[in-house]
Amino acid sequence: MIMAKINLKSLKNQAQKAIEKAEDLKELNEIFKKYLGKKGELTQVLKSLEKLPKAKKVKIGKEANELKNFLGIKFDQEAQELKEKVKKEAEEKEWIDITAPGKKPVLGHLHPLTQVKRKAEEIFQAMGFSVIEGPEIENEWYNFDALNIPKDHPARDLWDTFWLKDNRLKLLLRTHTSPVQVRYMERNQPPLRIIVPGRIFRHEATDASHEINFYQIEGLMIDKNISAANFKAVIEEFFKRFFEKPVEIRMRPGYFPFVEPGFEVDMTCLACEGRGCPACSKTGWMEMMGAGMVHPAVFKNSGLNPKDWQGFAFGIGMDRLAMMKYKINDIRLFYSGDLRFLQQF
Ligand code: FA5
Repeated sequence: MIMAKINLKSLKNQAQKAIEKAEDLKELNEIFKKYLGKKGELTQVLKSLEKLPKAKKVKIGKEANELKNFLGIKFDQEAQELKEKVKKEAEEKEWIDITAPGKKPVLGHLHPLTQVKRKAEEIFQAMGFSVIEGPEIENEWYNFDALNIPKDHPARDLWDTFWLKDNRLKLLLRTHTSPVQVRYMERNQPPLRIIVPGRIFRHEATDASHEINFYQIEGLMIDKNISAANFKAVIEEFFKRFFEKPVEIRMRPGYFPFVEPGFEVDMTCLACEGRGCPACSKTGWMEMMGAGMVHPAVFKNSGLNPKDWQGFAFGIGMDRLAMMKYKINDIRLFYSGDLRFLQQF
């Protein structure tokens, strides 16, 4: 009995110390197994009670069960404390410094050419023009013939064209946005006022002001009495609103088979303020568009009587609008995908 008593006392001391020293839940679990597990020391004592005489069994049994309850409570308390400790440590690790400067998410934005397209659309819409689209893959009729450019006409040499490989349908990548003039007039009776912004393709050498793939904004205004003076007024107003300041333009005669008379419109090169740069081939002037009064043949090809209607058409180089707006002296930058360039807009 004395042995058992001593054993229980020292067992209590050992177990209690071990519990208090436990560093983590895993260690605590091992200690639990050592004393209260299936083969644990206290469990062994409890199992051995049966062999004792009744009087001893009652006394030691009582003490052993009290110890079991006591240790059970100790284990629970320690486990609770260790859980708190783990939680606190995790919280300390994840501590947020609310005074630290935040990380800014990198936001994308629209490409400068898209910004220019939207701005131009907004201005023309405010002047009563509707925004129309046309196909980038065109056929020979709309791109050339309907625009009074017959097969043997030297004007065809003006555009070196990307023809599609399977060419039974004579399909090509449109070389200008002008085909949409005919497509639109076939389906819509004048009076009409439209612009057609869109992508076009030319098989030509690139330089600071020429790309192989670029954008134009076609314009068309048809009514009974539309004149070249109306064209000049519309374009001057557009430029004033687009550049947000008056800009100097000049109109010179230009030849396009689908207009008569035809003009080309230049503006002071804003990339160099007229001093001369690679973009304007050192002339100080940037060619912005071709234009003119719609040719009677184009009316006829669109199913309209040229005696009833007249009007102007134009085709602005949209990339060049962007070059002038942002003072960019090389068109190829727009298509370079260089983030250092794009992030400036
Ligand atoms: C034409 O494309 C005519 N369709 C314009 C037109 C429309 C005339 C309606 C009359 C009536 P042109 O090839 O000149 O014309 O091109 C028009 C404008 O597009 C030019 O003034 C220039 O600003 C721009 N442009 C022409 N070629 C390129 C190129 N390779 N890269 C960038 N912009 C160009």
